[in-house]
Amino acid sequence: MAKMEDNNIEKFYKDSILVVDFGSQYTQLIARRVREQNVFCEVVSYNNADDYVIKNNPKGIILSGGPSSVIASGTPTISNKIINFGVPILAICYGQQCMVQRLGGKVISSDKSEFGRAKVSIKKTCMLTKNIWSVGEEYQVWMSHGDSVSKIPDGFFTVAQTEGAPYALIANEEKKYYGVQFHPEVIHTLEGKQLIKNFVVDISSCKLSWSMSSFLDYKISQLKRQIGKQNVVCGLSGGVDSSVTAALINKAVGGQLFCVFVNHGLLREGESEEIKTIFGKRFGNRFIYVDASKLFLNALVGIEDPEEKRRTIGNKFVEVFEEEAKKIGDVKYLAQGTLYPDVIESVSFSGGPSVTIKSHHNVGGLPEKMNLELVEPLRELFKDEVRILGKDLGLPKNLIDRHPFPGPGLAIRILGPIDEDSINILRKADSIFINFIRNEGLYDKIWQAFCVLLPVKSVGVMGDARSYDKTLVLRAVTSVDGMTADVFQFEHSFLSKISTRIVNEVTGINRVTYDITSKPPGTIEWE
Ligand code: XMP
Repeated sequence: MAKMEDNNIEKFYKDSILVVDFGSQYTQLIARRVREQNVFCEVVSYNNADDYVIKNNPKGIILSGGPSSVIASGTPTISNKIINFGVPILAICYGQQCMVQRLGGKVISSDKSEFGRAKVSIKKTCMLTKNIWSVGEEYQVWMSHGDSVSKIPDGFFTVAQTEGAPYALIANEEKKYYGVQFHPEVIHTLEGKQLIKNFVVDISSCKLSWSMSSFLDYKISQLKRQIGKQNVVCGLSGGVDSSVTAALINKAVGGQLFCVFVNHGLLREGESEEIKTIFGKRFGNRFIYVDASKLFLNALVGIEDPEEKRRTIGNKFVEVFEEEAKKIGDVKYLAQGTLYPDVIESVSFSGGPSVTIKSHHNVGGLPEKMNLELVEPLRELFKDEVRILGKDLGLPKNLIDRHPFPGPGLAIRILGPIDEDSINILRKADSIFINFIRNEGLYDKIWQAFCVLLPVKSVGVMGDARSYDKTLVLRAVTSVDGMTADVFQFEHSFLSKISTRIVNEVTGINRVTYDITSKPPGTIEWE
């Protein structure tokens, strides 16, 4: 969890919302929706919530959904401290059930589970629905629950119902407690964003103090204080996160920043030349290019396991940075572009032994013992916020709007063991795919497009000859922050053209497929 020791951050905390996490797949979306209202918000696991409220005094608390059942024993819950903290509470799904149980109501395992779209009919008005939903009307919401509330606590009344949930929205206006069985944070709850706005702005009275320009001022003064007169090396990959990190630190401490661009041999076509040109100009002799491709590729020989690939690459990165730092001299810090979703995704919601989906190189892949201290100025931000910050810092649009590219690069897009042949095949195919997308004017409509090379061979016929080559997967998704993603819908004829070009031009591939899996249940990358 992001720890912000600096006093200046007080101004954000003064008007902040706490999201208590019970492990819902949508928890981060709740935080996004709050920040979209220009209000600062952090996510904290339910078992750290008590300490958090005492320390940070949030103006409102949102309880997330979660996969557990309050009916079972020993499942996550909230303490009386949270309930009685004296600020408004919006309790969502599992959070609603926790709140209801804690306040003396009842929850049952319903025989009518609801998943997906549902209609709520509005019975009464309340501050949460003010100017949004009218009594007697029906509205679309997104449901995902098995248990439901069967008796509401004293002081509550029913605002809305669905067929499967008689207490789809309940309120205690005096205490400013609101419980919803549906998920307002999901876009399929069509007015969900406004409901959250009502909670944050009208009910919790948060001032709209969170903006990228105020964050920029705060961050620069904090970085100045943190870094002092020491030197910093920044691992620059040319992606938006590390570029914004470098620009931010450059603005704070200028000449003390050295940008190290490590070519790990797993970059896309033309990428290393492009980055050398852009950043060589910007940082002059404080831009250091290291061709470490042999080092990385040797270390990766024979490794098939995705997590081991990530760990190996993370370790090598740090090795190279430390070596470069020694050459520069007097370097105390290593800066990198870790984002808030990386921070949250790398710990489990219970704060216990984590169920790590992937250890992103920016967080999980680092060795436990490092000689450099980390500086991660984007730790509190989501990707779209980083893009706004990058624009405010004057970075060029083509850099800011580039599709994300993972730290481990093509290594996690070649399934199975990695060798130079596979890298070259993937690089060439990827470049064809991206050029097609650019030429069709689709690049900016897609969050991320790339190819994945499978170690699966199949039989084909080319000319009159039999081929027995590898399979390529095209992947293109739309997303707001990489946490959830939808498949981009290309025209079939467009995909056919790409497939033909790739099979004709890239030796080693004889079959092309398109991945139609959203996230969840898939992840964006394949490893
Ligand atoms: P997944 O595959 O987890 O990816 O759905 C979500 C987003 O994160 C990017 N990604 C990474 N970025 N280092 C990074 O800097 C990594 O190790 C890493 N792994 C995944 C991925 O490209 C997508 O945008």
